[in-house]
Amino acid sequence: MWVVGTKLIPLYIMSKLDVVLGLQWGDEGKGKIVDVLTRQYPVVARFQGGPNAGHSIHYEGRSFVLRSIPSGVLREGTVNIVGNGVVLDPIAFKGECEELINKTGAPIRERIVVSRRAHLILPTHRLLDAANEAALGKAKIGSTLKGIGPAYNDKTGRKGLRVCDALAEDFKDRYKTLQDRHIQQIERLGFQCDPHAQDQEWFEAVEYLKTFPIVDCEYYVNERLKDTDMLAEGAQGTMLDVDYGTFPFVTSSSTMCGGACIGLGVAPQKIGKVWGVFKAYCTRVGNGPFPTELFDETGEKLRALGHEFGAVTGRPRRCGWLDLVQLRYSVMINGVTDLIMMKSDVLSGFDTIKLCTSYMVNGVETDVYPADSAAEVVPVYTEFPGWTEDITVCRTRASLPKSLAEYIAFIEKYIGVPVKIVSVGPDRDETIFE
Ligand code: GDP
Ligand code: IMO
Ligand code: MG
Repeated sequence: MWVVGTKLIPLYIMSKLDVVLGLQWGDEGKGKIVDVLTRQYPVVARFQGGPNAGHSIHYEGRSFVLRSIPSGVLREGTVNIVGNGVVLDPIAFKGECEELINKTGAPIRERIVVSRRAHLILPTHRLLDAANEAALGKAKIGSTLKGIGPAYNDKTGRKGLRVCDALAEDFKDRYKTLQDRHIQQIERLGFQCDPHAQDQEWFEAVEYLKTFPIVDCEYYVNERLKDTDMLAEGAQGTMLDVDYGTFPFVTSSSTMCGGACIGLGVAPQKIGKVWGVFKAYCTRVGNGPFPTELFDETGEKLRALGHEFGAVTGRPRRCGWLDLVQLRYSVMINGVTDLIMMKSDVLSGFDTIKLCTSYMVNGVETDVYPADSAAEVVPVYTEFPGWTEDITVCRTRASLPKSLAEYIAFIEKYIGVPVKIVSVGPDRDETIFE
């Protein structure tokens, strides 16, 4: 119980910050599901990542890809927060806003607020990203080259510029100091480029950014949480988390539930539901371990049917079967309370569907996800009969094919968490609730 005036109010009445997280290697369908869920949440906040994210939303026959702006922005009456933990590229932000305004005519300016403490991505962060990847050669991460790693390096290295710096009188001097440092690093790596090519465009974009409400996000969020349920929108996926992902083939932020507390300034006890989003199979874009990856026709078929090409870079996504060892690991470290299975329709038309239920690592069977990305992991599968029905028309769990219902029941039993939403197509309407 807590006390308001003289009244005792049960704790469960307090508003909560619910969190949507990707449980695999990103691109699970977070954008669609956040857009669907914002009917319930008037406030949506991004807490980490930046324009490396590409969150697709389809509605009324049109599609949109959100990069730094939360995926609630297309719903009337929502507030969409670009939180402290985000790294914001003013040029990308401006481009994204203008595209949304042109395509929808929606008053999205009224729906976005930006944290004063969010770090800025400079053009030279992007160049450094490219220089670092070029220097790694075959060992490259497969970065989206949006400057994410270098921007977070400057954050933890205590050198980065934040949105609040852009409001200071000596902002240009601060910019030059950081840019000079970057130029030295780029030169040391022998990378050829013009580091000043985007200076003017960047400063113009910063002026554009400054026309949005710039807030003390942590105060704003905690104030709103007094009476409003909020949704935190994760970017990337748990296996790309800098601590718990397939290091070093990861992104540079905390993509997990805990990242929402840090990236928004919210205490852990204010977290409510943790929605864990996973594809009915698995994909990965970029390099690094992927135990259930398929290199055969089945993998090609998943890519073709699922249109598995990156929303940001257009790169073909690597495809494979659903990996329950990996999924259970992600559910454990995030405290997932509700599962959401996406792209279930893509599995229609396979004779047999496989689920990875354990690994052989160095000849020993295990259900522990290995820390070392060099470990040789051989998946052990359980097979299920496929189904042929087109399920995009299904709107109830009862109408799903029996084989799919059994597939879902097996996942729920293995993981120990219920699948609350099943997505059967990219559109808002192609969604089945409990
Ligand atoms: P995010 O980064 O997690 O938001 O995911 P992406 O947007 O990068 O990739 C997911 C892709 O799958 C997008 O093209 C979505 O439009 C699409 N999608 C989402 N849910 C479904 C679904 O249930 N079925 C199908 N066929 N496509 C879906
Ligand atoms: P959403 O939010 C899929 C991958 C990159 C690369 C690694 C590091 O759309 O799910 P970075 O640019 O962060 O330095 O790249 O992480 N990656 C993603 N893969 N979806 C994403 O975001 C990703 N963001 C980064 O491909 O392997
Ligand atoms: Mg994506």
